[in-house]
Parts: sequence; C-alpha cells; structure tokens
Amino acid sequence: MPLILGIETSCDETAAAVVEDGRSVRSSIVATQHDLHEAYGGVVPEIASRAHLENLQPAITAALDEAGLTLQQLDAIAVGNRPGLIGSLLIGVSAAQSLAWSLDKPLIAIDHLQAHLYAVNFEFRISNFEFQDFPALGLVISGGHTSLYRMTSFTQLEPLGRTIDDAVGEAYDKAAVILGAGYPGGPALDRLAQQGDASNVEPLPRSMLEADSLDFSYSGLKTALLYRVRGHPIGRGKEATFQRSAEELSDTQRADLAAAFQGAAIGVLFDKLRRALQRYDDIRAILIGGGVCANSHLRKLAASFDLPVHLPPQQYCVDNAAMIAGMAYEFYQRRKFAALNVSAVATTGACGQDGRAI
Ligand code: KG4
Ligand code: ZN
Repeated sequence: MPLILGIETSCDETAAAVVEDGRSVRSSIVATQHDLHEAYGGVVPEIASRAHLENLQPAITAALDEAGLTLQQLDAIAVGNRPGLIGSLLIGVSAAQSLAWSLDKPLIAIDHLQAHLYAVNFEFRISNFEFQDFPALGLVISGGHTSLYRMTSFTQLEPLGRTIDDAVGEAYDKAAVILGAGYPGGPALDRLAQQGDASNVEPLPRSMLEADSLDFSYSGLKTALLYRVRGHPIGRGKEATFQRSAEELSDTQRADLAAAFQGAAIGVLFDKLRRALQRYDDIRAILIGGGVCANSHLRKLAASFDLPVHLPPQQYCVDNAAMIAGMAYEFYQRRKFAALNVSAVATTGACGQDGRAI
C-alpha cells in the first residue's frame, strides 16, 4: 500500500506525517510555534518562516522514525502548497521539492483547505472504507478561512460562500484578546465559555447578511463583544477611549460573555448550513474541517443535526500533515503529480498540479 510523506507549513505549525493508503496514519508530528507568537497576540509571518526552517527537518526525521521507515521506502512526497503565508509555504514546498528530486519520487501539491475536509476520513477506522456520501456540504472553519462548498468528491468543490471580513477562527482569537482569555485564543475562549451561561446576558448579534447569502461576516460580532465588554467608545479614531477595561468585569461576567460569543459564532455556521440545505435538496452529508471544529460547542451541536455531520478526530482539526498525506493519495491513485518547480500560492481556489491558478 502506498506510503506518502506529507509536509505542512502554511501558517504556524510545522508538521510532517506518513500516511498509508490515504487512511492509516503511521505517524503525525506537529511542532507548534505558539510560544513564539504569544507576545504579539497573533502570528508574525517572518518569525513563522524562520521557525519552519529550524523545525521542519527534525519533524520529517521524527515522522519517519515513528513510522519505522526510511526515506527510500516512501512512494511519494506531498506538500500543502496553498493557501497560506507565502514565506511559510515556501519552506515546506522547497523541502518537498528537494526530497522528491533527490529521491526520484513523485511530488504531489495539495490545497490546505481541501485537506482540512479530507481529514474527516480519519474518523473512519476501517482501512478500506471509502466515504461516498456525496454530494455533501463542506465547511472549512479555520484561522484564515470560513468557506462553504458543495462537494461532489474530495477534489471537486464548488464554492458557495465565504467570509466577507474576518474568519471565524480569527474572530475567536480577537474575542479572546478582548476578554483576556489567553493565547492561543480559540481553545482559551472555548474553555472560558464552558464555565459561563449565555442566558445570563443579552444575545450577541448573528450576522446572516442578505436573505439568500451563504457568505459569512464576523466583524460585527467582534465589535459587539468589544462594546459589551468595554462600553461604547468615547471619541473617534485614535483618540477614542473606552468607558471601562476588561478587568472591571467579574470572572462570571467574562465567562457569560464568552458563552454568548461562542453561541453566536458557532450558531451562525449552523444557520448557514441549514440555509444551504434549503437551496440543495440532494445533500447527503455535511463535512466540517479546520481548527475551529475542535470547538466543544460545535461538536455538541453537530451531534444534534438532522443529517450525518462528519468531523475529523480532535487531533486532525488544527493544522497537521496527516491530512496533506491522506489527501495526496487521491492524486497518487490517478497519477496526478506536480511539476518539480511547483509554486507556493498564498490564495486558495482552483489550481493545477503545477501550482498555477486554473
Ligand atoms: O486550521 P487551523 O489550525 O489553522 C488555519 O488554517 O488557520 O485553525 C486555527 C484556528 C485558530 O484561529 C484557533 O483559534 C482556532 O482554529 N481554534 C479554535 C479552537 N481550537 C482552535 N476555535 C474555537 N474553539 C476551539 N476549541
Ligand atoms: Zn488550517
């Protein structure tokens, strides 16, 4: 069965993994950079690229060791080449190109967002099981993206909607700063919200946009939370001051507001999924991928949905390389390999195996 090495460096996780036959994860190494970015309250691209350069080679060695394999035993090298921070992507792409060239193995270039959705396959433990519940709705919810697709396979995705401003994960990260919940923001806010009760505070707004829109918007929710925590600003622009600081709220008030934020941020995702189901009556399943699907509230709501909702196991929600190596099997089977000079691309969208937009 084909053994594929996956490499992932699109943002602030340096990851390498070996996956057999697209399904069995033989190893999955993720080196996070959270401590490097914490002081800045967000990912600093230049620092991320430098850390990838230091961490990638050890991650690849660890992935091979854990899988009990040598480089020569691999059948292909896969890399997430789009979308992401360009400097970060370039580190992974260069490493994958060098390995493929020196080992004379095929190179496979993978779209990071498609790979997030492919990660639901790791939910199925049966090695020869093939997920076939298409057409499906695919929702990618991460720090950089909130995108909804109609999927007829893991590689054929029609975009239906996306965020017009902040991504849901980004909104989580900013909300965590507003509430002083800690870093990284998403998991910290999730933990705080679990201690709170949303019914103790007035609900925060859910932005549905126009009646038929499948796009998302999170900037209004973020601003509403800011004003709820600190009061309406006095003055405008740089001169503006707030009526109070977050420290003036009690721990209970902060937790209740976190719960209200969580209810609105996650609730609107499910509202939009329901809207998409009204538009398409042939949908057989919903697939959700990306860092935010590690969220406790989302996982609870997903279990009560009318349709089967598939989520990756917890460790494959946030960025990882197993999803890259797994997705690559789809292309390996069809002998769809990338050129050795494949580009790194900052944006998402249709893209050939040469890495250029099509
Ligand atoms: O997919 P991912 O690892 O990276 C991107 O491709 O962006 O997603 C990271 C995002 C971050 O914004 C993080 O705050 C969010 O996922 N996240 C969460 C949770 N765990 C991670 N958001 C809400 N609740 C969580 N438990
Ligand atoms: Zn991601």
